[in-house]
Parts: sequence; C-alpha cells; structure tokens
Amino acid sequence: MTTQPRLLMSELSTAMVWPASAVVAPGGDIAVAGVGLAELAEHYGTPTYVIDEDEVRARAQAWRRALPDADVVYAAKAFLCRAMVDWVEQEGLGLDVCSAGELELAATRGFPPERIVLHGNAKSPQDLRTALRLGVGRIVIDSDCEIARLAAQVPGPDAQRVMVRVLPGIQAGAHHKIRTGAEGQKFGLSIADGDAEEAIARILGQHRLELVGLHCHLGSQITEAEPYAEGVRRVVAFMALIRDRYGVTLPELDMGGGFAVAYLPGDPAPAPSEYGRLITETLADACAEHGLPVPRLTVEPGRSVVAPAGIALYRVLSVKRTTGRVFVAVDGGMSDNPRPALYGARYTVRRVGRASDAPMRSATVVGRHCEAGDVLADVVELPDDIRPGDVLAVPASGAYQVSMASGYNMTGRPPVVAVSGGRSRLLVRRENFEDLRHRDVGL
Ligand code: LLP
Repeated sequence: MTTQPRLLMSELSTAMVWPASAVVAPGGDIAVAGVGLAELAEHYGTPTYVIDEDEVRARAQAWRRALPDADVVYAAKAFLCRAMVDWVEQEGLGLDVCSAGELELAATRGFPPERIVLHGNAKSPQDLRTALRLGVGRIVIDSDCEIARLAAQVPGPDAQRVMVRVLPGIQAGAHHKIRTGAEGQKFGLSIADGDAEEAIARILGQHRLELVGLHCHLGSQITEAEPYAEGVRRVVAFMALIRDRYGVTLPELDMGGGFAVAYLPGDPAPAPSEYGRLITETLADACAEHGLPVPRLTVEPGRSVVAPAGIALYRVLSVKRTTGRVFVAVDGGMSDNPRPALYGARYTVRRVGRASDAPMRSATVVGRHCEAGDVLADVVELPDDIRPGDVLAVPASGAYQVSMASGYNMTGRPPVVAVSGGRSRLLVRRENFEDLRHRDVGL
C-alpha cells in the first residue's frame, strides 16, 4: 500500500524552513523536488548539501517582483558555484562579489560584467586587477586608501564607475559579528564623523573614477524592514548634503542585503515584498522631502535567495546517553557549518528515511570535530530510537555553510547536489584526501 505524500509545510505549520517542494514521503522520508533525501544520502554519501534549484529561482523571482524598478544583485558569498552563476544570470539578477576568486568563477560562465558589483573592506591588488580586466559594473569603495590606488589602475579611456560605502550608524542584524551598519567596526566610511564626505570629495577629483552613488549594508539576518527605512532616511539626507556642498546629484543607491530567513519554525522572516515596499516608499518620501530625484535602487540579498533552498544531510555516527542528555554525533559539524559556533545560530533537525513510533526526545546534535563547541543543534526533538546509521536533515542550510566550510581535521568539504523535477545532479564534488594531499607540496 502506498501512502500519498503530504505537504511538509502543513505538517510543520511553517512556510519557510523547508523548500516549497518538500513533502513527507512514505517510510518517514522527505522528498524535495521529487527526490527522497534518504536516497540522496545513500547515493552521494554524507555529509552532503542538497539545493533545490527551483526554490532558488523562485526566490530570485520573488525579489524581482518585489522591486520591479530596482536592480537585484545576488550576494555570491552566501553560496556560489557555476550552476548558481547560471541560475542568477537567467533570473535576471546581478552578482555581488568580494574577491578575484568569486569574480573569476562568474567569468567562467560569461556572467555579464556590467551586472557585477565588487565589494571588500580590503581589496587586494589582484581583486582590483581582475575587476578592471573583466570590466565590472561597479566597484564599491570602502576606504580612503583605495581611491588613488584604484584610479591609477583604471586603463581608460572610460572612467570606472564607483560607489562609496557609507556607515549610517544603525545597529541591525542577528549577532554583533554580522552588524555592519554601526560605528566602530571595520566596514564603510562614517557619515557622522565626516569620513564619507572626505572620500567623496577625493573621488570627485579623480577623472578616472565616476561616482554613481552610495552603498550601505546594515548587517545580516535583519528580521524587520524598519532598519532599512531608517538607513534610507539617513543616506538620502547625506545625498542631499553632497548635492548642496558639491553640486552633485547621485543617481544610484545600493541598500545592500541582510534580509532574514527562518531557521526555526515561526522565526520572523518578512517576504521580499514587505522589505521592498517599505524601502521604496521611504525612498520616495525622503527624496521628496529633500527635493532629490529618486535614485536607481539596488538591493543585494544573499541568504534570502539561497538559504531556504539548501538542506544538509548527515549520517549519525554515535549516540551517547549520558548525565541525562542525549548526544547524537554526526559525520559533519563545524567544518561544514561553523554558524552555530560563530553566531550561536539555531537549526531544526529531522530524521529522514526511517519511520518509527518512538516518542520524541530532546537531544543535542554534535559534529565529529575535536572541540566541545562543535554543536550543530542544541535541544532539538528527535525520535528516542535514534541510532547510528540514521540520516538527519537540516533545512535552511543553503547560505554561509558550504561557502564557509573549512579544512578542519582534514575531513574534506562536502559535495553539493542540485535537485529539480524529480532528478538530482552533482554540482560540486566532495573534497577527498587526494585533493588535500595535492596541495601539500613540500617536505
Ligand atoms: N552585501 C554586502 C556588502 C554584504 O557584505 C553581504 C553579506 C550581503 C550583501 C548579503 O547579506 P545577506 O543578504 O546574505 O544577509 N556569515 C554570516 C553572514 C555574513 C554576511 C556578510 N555579508 C552568517 O552566516 O550569518
């Protein structure tokens, strides 16, 4: 007898933690885009990262619909591979990169350079060289000392389009390590203490640089739209000041990324349309108040496009019941997901591929690395009969996990598998010992 798959959403009463295609399949499995997760774990091994291509595309489209008159630029640092470059390109988004490596990868797919924005608080000579060679659309200046350096390298005759990253003095974001809009951290040029104005004056004096606008990235995992509205008000007031003092009306404004996703059922995660509405309304109002034309808006969502499309799959290696606690140790950990250790990030975990009537019990899912802090998910509910060999799925794993994976303990970084229309395909293969040994060239 076969059971009809049920929509996972309704079962968990959360619309955002799993991809929209996720259903509970017979036998306790979960299918994403028509492919069973337990089957994927079996076929590709574990740990493995699964990415629902259609979910990525749908989220990219949602951003374009939310801001039809703006440029939506995907922040590559959240997750990048060649397939992702293609999806982003096909959905009409731009690409935000912060290194020559990300730029070169985009170039291998012929991503239109004019749709690329280069960031970085400390761009290396190679970053700048690569950006100029490929002809990226915008370079975002983040420090005084890169102005002359960049200008000297622009081959001409055309000027390089640049923006200035300003610091509006706003606290927003899930953790102090990812709040970048406040004073006293390494990013941006302060509006309040005059650094931003000074940089603008210098750029205006460089004929090889064309200042097209201001950039502002408040932080990451920002669960409300209001900080963006406040950011817009402060940056537009500053644009008015620049017009008054320098006679320059800047035609563009990039409000960065940072839009939140749900990691746990019920987490606040406003839709792109909610952020979009408040940002555009505030921008129109603020410009009217200062008598400025409304600049062309850009946003740079990273996590919001890709996090809910990704699922991490692990196999349980050991179950330790001790001092009233249950430690479920899996074959990955902080080397493929450093987020819990770095930011205290929380995740939900689900066993897949084996149904049972066992009661649910509180457990701590830990990794295999040599640190007590290698905890993937503290206090999650798992079936009491959890045992070695079971497969665990961690949703909302598409952003800042694979891209931040490390070589710790030489376990090798996990593969990335795309699912779509009932089929899977390998996008990035597992890093194996041969890869590691090949880099070790000396004795
Ligand atoms: N634009 C700029 C200039 C950025 O620095 C970032 C992220 C984004 C856009 C995209 O932000 P998103 O929409 O993805 O929040 N590793 C941390 C997040 C660091 C974000 C760095 N910059 C984490 O795992 O939470």
